[in-house]
Amino acid sequence: MIRIRFISADGETREAFAREGDRLLEVAQNDGQPLEGTCEGQMACSTCHVLIAAADFARLPPASEDEEDMLDLAMGAGRTSRLACQIVLSPDLDGLTVRMPSGHRDMQGR
Ligand code: FES
Repeated sequence: MIRIRFISADGETREAFAREGDRLLEVAQNDGQPLEGTCEGQMACSTCHVLIAAADFARLPPASEDEEDMLDLAMGAGRTSRLACQIVLSPDLDGLTVRMPSGHRDMQGR
């Protein structure tokens, strides 16, 4: 089992478990994280955008150019942004910490 820690936009931390070969997008969705993943991994939407903890970022294989292009369009993107549909989990990613971008979906109300 691969442990993944999800941090919601408002700071709530949850731990989820994944198997080798699972895509981060599905693991997040199964955990109830608000990632739409509209294009189902075709790199055409950026609604699966997440922020990887800085300490974990280097453990991921680098993003492709197409992924970088989509991230340029993602709301709230930062230096450790990735598309969750492009991340396939493996045991060496155990303990990965993934934050949901704020502004992805406004559920905070006022
Ligand atoms: Fe559309 Fe990842 S699901 S880019």
